Amino acid sequence: MSEIIEKYGEALFSNAQKAAQTAYAPYSQFHVGAAVLSADYEIYMGCNVENAAYPEGLCAEASAIAQMVQQGKTTIKAIAVYANSQELTTPCGGCRQKIREFAAPKTPILICNDTGIIATMTLAELLPHSFGPDNLKR
Ligand code: THU
Repeated sequence: MSEIIEKYGEALFSNAQKAAQTAYAPYSQFHVGAAVLSADYEIYMGCNVENAAYPEGLCAEASAIAQMVQQGKTTIKAIAVYANSQELTTPCGGCRQKIREFAAPKTPILICNDTGIIATMTLAELLPHSFGPDNLKR
């Protein structure tokens, strides 16, 4: 896990930060960016996209995952989430589940703000005892 962060942490942070600049967040003014590292070490970016019908808004993580899947990749090696906030901007509950679909329990989630990576946690820490594709196997 730390090897991935050492090697790709900085790139994931800067891509997530960059993605936040494209956020469409006229309602919350809370600009979020995400960067996903796929199994072949490509990085896919996403930003939050809000909507006048508020619940229809899309989180940055969901948008980055969609970019990755659109390129035919279905494994997340690591993901960074950036917001310009002093608080830890951890993925919302729905996004934890969306990450879960493509990640392993130990997959690192890097929480970032303008000072860089301010926390690292695993998917299992954020979503213990999760439900996933294996649960549907009979
Ligand atoms: N948001 C994200 O994009 N990702 C997160 O991890 C937390 C929240 C967005 C959703 C909404 O557009 C705005 O931030 C405020 O909740």
